[in-house]
Amino acid sequence: MTTDDLGTPNGTPTPADRVPIVELRGAGKSYGNIRALHGVDLAVHPGRVACVLGDNGAGKSTLIKIISGLHQHTEGELLVDGRPVRFSTPREALDRGIATVYQDLATVPLMPVWRNFFLGSEMTKGPWPVRRLDIARMKKTADDELRNMGIVLDDLEQPIGTLSGGQRQCVAIARAVYFGARVLILDEPTAALGVKQSGVVLKYIAAARERGLGVIFITHNPHHAYMVGDHFSVLRLGTLELSADRTQVGLEELTNHMAGGAELAALKHELAQVGGVDVQGLPEEKDLRAPVAAPPEGNS
Ligand SMILES: Nc1ncnc2c1ncn2[C@@H]1O[C@H](COP(=O)(O)OP(=O)(O)OP(=O)(O)O)[C@@H](O)[C@H]1O
Ligand SMILES: [Mg+2]
Repeated sequence: MTTDDLGTPNGTPTPADRVPIVELRGAGKSYGNIRALHGVDLAVHPGRVACVLGDNGAGKSTLIKIISGLHQHTEGELLVDGRPVRFSTPREALDRGIATVYQDLATVPLMPVWRNFFLGSEMTKGPWPVRRLDIARMKKTADDELRNMGIVLDDLEQPIGTLSGGQRQCVAIARAVYFGARVLILDEPTAALGVKQSGVVLKYIAAARERGLGVIFITHNPHHAYMVGDHFSVLRLGTLELSADRTQVGLEELTNHMAGGAELAALKHELAQVGGVDVQGLPEEKDLRAPVAAPPEGNS
């Protein structure tokens, strides 16, 4: 799959003059005396994909928990439409159009696809007390919405548990779009998927961007990130090690950062003395971008 299949990211720098839908400024989070996240800046604009990369324990989930209302930040600011906010529940984030698709999708495997699409927000018809589910309208709407996103399923009656992991992710994305999401947060949607299924999910990330949503795409995989991303943030031990627009960073550099490039570069010299270790492919320190500047004054 080429980048073009996914709707080429336009590569222009993130517009500095427009107010982001969601922004973190010097944000951080401590759990008791464990500092999971510190001094993180991130801006999410409509029609753009912000990728957040990082190794296990780097703070990726903590970051999205702050934005999605699951946890509160303990330092810095979270802004929505330019105003500082503090969400106490995921419902509050959802009401502001921030929808999160978790990896362990909240679906009921034995229920049909269309039922899962409307889970918790069912359409009804008729006056009280004889109100009942409007099944025909729900099926039709789910079908239309999935098609709008380019997702064609043979049978919406099939239990969602029979779909592949990639297809389930796509249904969840289409659902969030239908219910008015402005920002879509995806926590490692391709982590458990094979190459082909990952491609399908990447296609719908691009489709969500085409529809003007801001997307936060969490991933371990720099190749997946680079196929759809407009901006890249690499977290390391809870702080930003890299924050760069697509025009400022190439895939190779991104991959080096993800591979723990700085440490590998430092080790290269030592490893070169050891027989049987091929260090040719390891990056040099000069190939790596310096860590991003500290957040602006007064934010930490
Ligand atoms: N509820 C919590 N209480 C205490 N420490 C936590 C809690 N949640 C996360 N942490 C710690 O914060 C750090 C960041 O964790 P986080 O889950 O955000 O990382 P991650 O980048 O999502 O990792 P992974 O790739 O494994 O999902 C880790 O050191 C983790 O142990
Ligand atoms: Mg995580």
